[in-house]
Amino acid sequence: MIRCDRTTAWAALKGHYEAHGRDLDLREAFGRDPARFERFAVEAPEVFADLSKNLWDEATHRLLAELARECGLEARRDAMLAGEAVNVTEGRAVLHTALRAPRGQGPFSEEVHDVLDRMLAYAESVRDTASSGFTDVVNIGIGGSDLGPQMAVPALDAFVHRGLRFHFVSNVDGHDIAPVLRGLKPDTTLFIIASKTFTTQETMANARVAHEWFVQQGGTDTAKHFVATTTNVQAAAEFGISTTFGFWDWVGGRYSLWSAIGLPIAIALGREHFRAFLDGAHAMDRHFAAAPLEKNLPMQLGLLDVWYRNFHGFTSRSVAPYHQGLKRLPAYLQQLEMESNGKRVDLEGQPLPYGTSPVVWGEPGTNGQHAYFQMLHQGTDVIPVEFILVKTPTHGHADLHSKLLANGLAQAQALMLGKTTEQALGEKAPTASKALDAATIARHRTFPGNRPSTTLLLERLTPRALGALVAMYEHRVFTSGALWGLNAYDQWGVELGKALCNDLLPRLASGDPTGLDASTAGLLRRLRG
Ligand code: F6P
Repeated sequence: MIRCDRTTAWAALKGHYEAHGRDLDLREAFGRDPARFERFAVEAPEVFADLSKNLWDEATHRLLAELARECGLEARRDAMLAGEAVNVTEGRAVLHTALRAPRGQGPFSEEVHDVLDRMLAYAESVRDTASSGFTDVVNIGIGGSDLGPQMAVPALDAFVHRGLRFHFVSNVDGHDIAPVLRGLKPDTTLFIIASKTFTTQETMANARVAHEWFVQQGGTDTAKHFVATTTNVQAAAEFGISTTFGFWDWVGGRYSLWSAIGLPIAIALGREHFRAFLDGAHAMDRHFAAAPLEKNLPMQLGLLDVWYRNFHGFTSRSVAPYHQGLKRLPAYLQQLEMESNGKRVDLEGQPLPYGTSPVVWGEPGTNGQHAYFQMLHQGTDVIPVEFILVKTPTHGHADLHSKLLANGLAQAQALMLGKTTEQALGEKAPTASKALDAATIARHRTFPGNRPSTTLLLERLTPRALGALVAMYEHRVFTSGALWGLNAYDQWGVELGKALCNDLLPRLASGDPTGLDASTAGLLRRLRG
């Protein structure tokens, strides 16, 4: 893989940005090209993408494809899919795609399907509530062992077992687990202890609290009420858990919802819908593996990310799912994208001379409109927005849904079209101050417009569609990470804080400030005072 800044396409993109890219005006671009919508539309399994409201033209598009080819993106993709150890700093393959390949296809197929079959059979047994007696399922895990199930279960609410309640405990803050335990009974609760390593401080501490509570409340059958999803079967056994669903070191934490970590999703949805979830992801994998670069949705999105980050200099991207079920998608994407691509050195450990992961953030629409969209429209920074619209809802409130869709379309339109001062002058503003003249008020009411957005359109938010959507994001992160020449599959950046926490924990009891900086020592003193 050649690093992106060492290619001729990179230099050409720089020239193109200076000459045309910086000043591209979307309103003029649509005026010039009546086929712009079709030209920048990409159809992938379950996801239609309108990329036409982005700050690029055909030349940008062509040069970005050249950049990808010169960097060797397709060969890198093939290496990952074939199971080469592309996670170089940990010497591991990156094979979450193997978790959703049909039996007999892809690496490790037998192992994957053995665990999957066992896990789905177990999920069905829990769903048979008349015989299992369960009413509540509590997943205790953090990061990748939490965010996937926590995002997917509410997203697929329409498909969730109506006799079971799902809870997610992640934070080591007792304010997380305490209210959950308050509503539970030991005889009807299943605890899933989810941890790839089975060593994570937060998860182990919460698992111990849950078990203590279980025993104090008169629970006796730990074997029935506690199961583990982990690569560290021995540690789970030492904890006293006999039912374990395993996975492998080639499944990264933030790519693990397809593995045993997806157990809460499998219990919520049942066998057939969980398989549909995997199928949707597999369909996106095949698209990613085979579609030409110019029509390959994850690659196009990843290239756009590079264009915005490194040429336009945009430092963040806002995700706006117009579906309340996707309320945890921004948090899920924060880990997926920022833990993967939040790196500052290349594969050889050399500092990267350009920006990498943008800040990813957002809230479901329309809530975000009444909070931070003001800044998106009139703030000083340009922040590309990603709208996710779902054509058909799973509820019967047609009027609400029309309003939701109209809002999503309108926001994308408003970002692009803006409003000139002349237009604002011609309007009445009922709340405008009488103390200011009309021209001043009009300047406050001007929208610059030309603010970019992508719209992703799903027919329905089914298990298959969600699978495809999440896989699309995974491959997009691969694409930008590969072009940036970094290792998207390690996370050394979380280690230092963990080590310092281990040092500080006994000091909270002893008060010993030896060797601490003055600020930390001062705070420690106040916390103990
Ligand atoms: O935050 C660091 C991290 O290692 C994540 O990558 C991972 O998803 C999370 O901690 C949880 O780790 P585990 O599943 O091993 O408990």
